[in-house]
Amino acid sequence: MQDFKSRPVNIIFYNFDIYVTKREERLIMKKIILLVVLGWSTLMLGNVDNGVGASIFNNRGCTMCHALDMDMVGPSIRTISIRYSGNENALVMYLKGQGQPIVYPERGEMMRPQLMKIANLYEDEYRSLARYIIQAFMRVDF
Ligand code: HEC
Repeated sequence: MQDFKSRPVNIIFYNFDIYVTKREERLIMKKIILLVVLGWSTLMLGNVDNGVGASIFNNRGCTMCHALDMDMVGPSIRTISIRYSGNENALVMYLKGQGQPIVYPERGEMMRPQLMKIANLYEDEYRSLARYIIQAFMRVDF
């Protein structure tokens, strides 16, 4: 004898009961939890920079010439982020040394040798770095 449970369901204006067994109920809960965890981890690891970009930027000497919010020798992260906003792929290409400078091309010769410092990154590290630069404004530490 299976133990059915009645669950009231409301879909917009319709009220009706569905009957599920305890086993089905547990399965549904498991699926919901799995979906929440998957959604959360995609957000954390996929879209939001997870610190890799920041540590490359800080540890490879980029901060010598680039401040967050103020143009120094190099343009600020804010300036770069404005020019590359919505164009992560172009920034990845540039960081790999396969693109052309678009921020201050007249000073591009100064920046070009700096790309040597990041010439040995993995694909996802280039992506993290590009995201770190582009998403600068969305971070609380900005
Ligand atoms: C010696 C100073 C200096 C250092 C160190 C430096 N940069 Fe730059 N950077 C510049 C200058 C000057 C420009 C402006 C020229 C330009 O726009 O290409 C620039 C421009 C840029 C741009 C914009 C490129 C474009 O499209 O115009 C990016 C992105 C960038 N730097 C990233 C980095 C990263 C990442 C590092 C660390 C590996 C770094 N920079 C280290 C001087 C520096």
